[in-house]
Amino acid sequence: MKGIFISLEGSDGAGKSTQIANVRQFFEDRGITPLMTREPGGTAISEKLREILLDKNNSEMSPIAEMMIYASARAQLVAEFIRPALERGEVIICDRYVDSSIAYQAYGRGLGDMVEKVNSYAIDGILPDITFFLDLDPAIGRERISTRAGASTPDRLEQEKMDFHYRVYNGYKAVAEANSERIAVIDANRSIEEIKEDIYDRLKRLCEEKGI
Ligand code: ADP
Ligand code: TYD
Repeated sequence: MKGIFISLEGSDGAGKSTQIANVRQFFEDRGITPLMTREPGGTAISEKLREILLDKNNSEMSPIAEMMIYASARAQLVAEFIRPALERGEVIICDRYVDSSIAYQAYGRGLGDMVEKVNSYAIDGILPDITFFLDLDPAIGRERISTRAGASTPDRLEQEKMDFHYRVYNGYKAVAEANSERIAVIDANRSIEEIKEDIYDRLKRLCEEKGI
């Protein structure tokens, strides 16, 4: 595949949106306009599925239904957007990807290995060149969200109890350890600028490897 695929991961409020703007800037400074997308979402069908997933009124959703809807949204995003864009040689920056399902559904919901299996069909062999895991205690993330400018009411996932968010966080740490060649663990309990510098170092190395 010719392009570059970058994902950002972490608990809610870990600083993904903030650092995504910096990753975008990194490429724009090099004269490259990256394609921005997010999960769940990024295509018309996937955005409809996102509404179902995040709707606070859908409290009866079963864990397996939830996992499969995330995987469906992902399958559509990969088929319609990510694969064609990578084949054209684009740079894609994605707010969350398959590691979110491993952390939230396999660990958070306790669904285990089934999640990776189902998602292997959704991602169809496409994994990011690099994934930045913003490592932040979920309690600090929650605190940051509550003071975020224009803070809205919590969505269905954000409403979950703290023990769910700690299972997710531990899931992320396990996934990062098992995939250390792809996932860069970034200490997110620092200033925005320090985190950005760390991410830029990794991006410079990636660009050298890719000959950009
Ligand atoms: P996410 O996209 O992971 O949910 P955001 O980027 O929206 O997280 O960050 C959540 C809140 O925390 C925002 O108000 C943001 O301005 C703030 N924030 C982001 N990074 C930091 C940081 N390193 N230190 C302190 N606050 C931060
Ligand atoms: P979003 O508002 O995009 O997240 P953020 O907190 O980063 O702004 O909401 C996406 C929610 O869906 C978030 O709580 C994480 C969750 N999620 C999963 O449970 N599984 C997945 O596979 C993905 C992509 C997200």
